[in-house]
Formats: sequence, C-alpha cells, structure tokens
Amino acid sequence: MWHRVAGRRERPIPYTATVAAPTDVLTDKLAGFGTTIFAEMSALAVETGAINLGQGFPDTDGPVEVLDAAVDAIRSGVNQYGPGLGHPELRQAIAEHQHRWFGLDIDPDTEVVVTAGATEALAAAMLGMLDAGDEVIVFEPMYDSYQAGIALAAASPVPVLLQPDADGVWRFDADGLRAAVTERTKLILLNTPHNPTGKVFDRDELDTIASVAIEHDLIVVTDEVYEHLVFDGSAHVPIATLPDMFERTLTISSGGKTFHTTGWKIGWMTGPNELVTAARMAKQYLTFVNGAPFQPATAVGLRLGDDYFTGLRDNLQTARDHLTDGLGRAGFTTYRPAAGYFVTVDITPVAPDLDGMTFCRELPQRAGVVAVPESAFYMHPENGDRFVRFAFCKQLPIIDAAVDQLVEAFG
Ligand SMILES: Cc1ncc(COP(=O)(O)O)c(C=O)c1O
Repeated sequence: MWHRVAGRRERPIPYTATVAAPTDVLTDKLAGFGTTIFAEMSALAVETGAINLGQGFPDTDGPVEVLDAAVDAIRSGVNQYGPGLGHPELRQAIAEHQHRWFGLDIDPDTEVVVTAGATEALAAAMLGMLDAGDEVIVFEPMYDSYQAGIALAAASPVPVLLQPDADGVWRFDADGLRAAVTERTKLILLNTPHNPTGKVFDRDELDTIASVAIEHDLIVVTDEVYEHLVFDGSAHVPIATLPDMFERTLTISSGGKTFHTTGWKIGWMTGPNELVTAARMAKQYLTFVNGAPFQPATAVGLRLGDDYFTGLRDNLQTARDHLTDGLGRAGFTTYRPAAGYFVTVDITPVAPDLDGMTFCRELPQRAGVVAVPESAFYMHPENGDRFVRFAFCKQLPIIDAAVDQLVEAFG
C-alpha cells in the first residue's frame, strides 16, 4: 500500500516533460493529443535513473546474421532510395514468411508494400482509405497511434471495450461490437496479439469479427507486430486466413519486435492489391521509402530457421513469468499476458486512492521503476484508470531488480 512508504512521498516529482500543445498553430485534428506517453515516461526514466519498464524496446541486440546483413548492405552500397514498394528481396521474404507460418499465398509484386515500421503502415492505411466522417471500430485499450492516425484522416474511432473476465482473460462483448456498426463505419482496426493486454484473439472471437465485417462489407486492418511472441503453446491466427477474409483484410507487421531492431523501423503491409494500393497512395507521400540497408537485412531475419522464432518466444515467456509473478508478489492484481511484450496490472490493491497516471508519475521516486498508465490507451481514459503496463522485453537481471524494488516498495 502507498501508506507503507508514505515517509518518502514528500519529495516533489521534478518532472515537467509534458509540453502544452500550441493550440493556435496545431491542427484541430491533433488537439488534445499532447506528447506521447512513451516519450513522457522514457524522459522520466532518464531524469530519475529508474529502471525503464515503460517503453517496449528490447535491451539486447537481435540475431547476428541480421545485424551483419545490414552492415554488408551498407558497405555494398545499398544506401540510396530503393523501389517504392520496397526492396524486392524483402518483399519476397515477406511473402515466403506469410506462407511458411500462416499458409497465406501473397504475390510479392502486387500484394506487399514495405513501410517505415508498422506505424507508418497504420497511418497510411487510415489516410489512404478513410474519408472525413468515416467511422473506425477499435478495441480499447489500443496502441496509442491508432487514435492519432484516425484523427489525421478526419475520421472517428468507435471503441469496443476489452475487459478482464473472471479468469483474467480480456474479452469484448460481441453484441457491443455489432452495436458499434453504423452506416458510417468503414473499417475495423484489430490488433492481435494485443498491446497492452497481451490478449491473443481466439478463433471464436475472430469468427465474430469476420462475420460483422462480411455482413456490413467492412475492411479489416489488422496489426500483428507480436505475431511470433505467443506463449503457452497457443497460436496466433491472422484474420486474413479466415474464409472470405483475405479480400477485405490489410495485414500489418514489422521486424522490430521479432528481430530486436525496433530502431530500424522496417514494417510492411500485405493484402489484396486494392487495399495495399490505397494505403500505398498515402505512404508514397509520407516517406516514399525508408531504411534501404535494413530491408535486405530484415529479409535475412524472416528466413531464419524455426528455432530462432521459438527460442525468442521461449525466452520472452520466461521473462513474462518473472515479471508477472514478481508484480503479484508486490501486491498488484496481474493479468498474465498470452503474448507480446507487456503485462497489465490493476493498481487498486497497492494504491487504492491513485489513478494510473499519478501512480506512474510517482513510481520512479517510490520504487525506482518506470511503467506506463493505460489510461493513455483509451478514448475514455477513466476506463483505464486502474491499469498500468510493465514491459518484460528486458534482460532477466533487470526484470528481477525491478521486481525486488517493487516488492520492497509495496509488498
Ligand atoms: C501494437 C503495436 N503496433 C505497432 C507498433 C509500432 O511498430 P513499429 O515500431 O514497427 O512502427 C507497436 C510498438 O510498440 C505496437 O505495440
């Protein structure tokens, strides 16, 4: 409980990173967005020297073959603008990857575009497909760029709430999803495996989403950046593999999480030519192309043997268990994630009087750890007031040190 360490609370939080938006200059479309929560919390980690379990980046390098391939590409002159669709080697590797893991047959010349991370693909999809006033169904909590991408397209997000059931599994109400559809709905934006909850949408849930999309002739844009990070023997099912779904689905992923190269920002979108082309029309005016030498290097990663992918997953599952168990010992209510980089906790048992934002701003002082308040992932922040996200894509000694500090502070 907070009161157990109350003696340390009088120290003021010296933190002022959130800059008020210059509203007289800023487009109305971005009014209210402010600084992203990751920038704010990472700045807080630097300022206080706390262990940063806020932002989702790994603290170890990825496979040496991938790193060497990038160095070789730079040295062999892959340093200029490449083809608008992406390096042919990478497009081929993406198509092979979709076939090898999910049985999808993709044409690398017409159904794949390489992007500046999944983030650009998401923004390009919104900008290339939406008109002002269109509605997008989103599952909240949601990755924070979704709302901004939809807003930049002058469209509106319509949230469907994910909530933990009695077993701690995050679920949505199927009737709530159906009720969210209006005549303005153009697409459903899905994220599976899901950030921040670590939910893997199961086959029944995907069937429900697919039936709504087919019934109302909606596009599905699906963000699958955690596709290889699924634990406990369960499997990621791309919604594009469901009957009659390929033709209405734009699938987005990236190499950052899978190859520990989040700073390279090599992402991609795959799907029927009509959808890929619509998103590419916007993408060509955003970056046109990016990351030339990192593209063939990411192709090397996608072609690594199965043991690379299973080893990555198994190591991360161990990290998940260290952190989730430790947070439980510290007194939080934990929701053990089925996938991804993050564990969500309910802070109520340790901080009944604080919201997640205040809790996270004080956490570096209290426990020397940085986490992220999940209210930032909701359209109605009060729905996420109790939830805080911790990242476990870190080395075990770092996670264990953070756990020790949290147990010391709250346990
Ligand atoms: C759900 C989700 N989508 C997209 C991204 C961003 O991917 P990229 O770095 O490839 O732009 C992240 C990064 O944390 C994420 O969690």
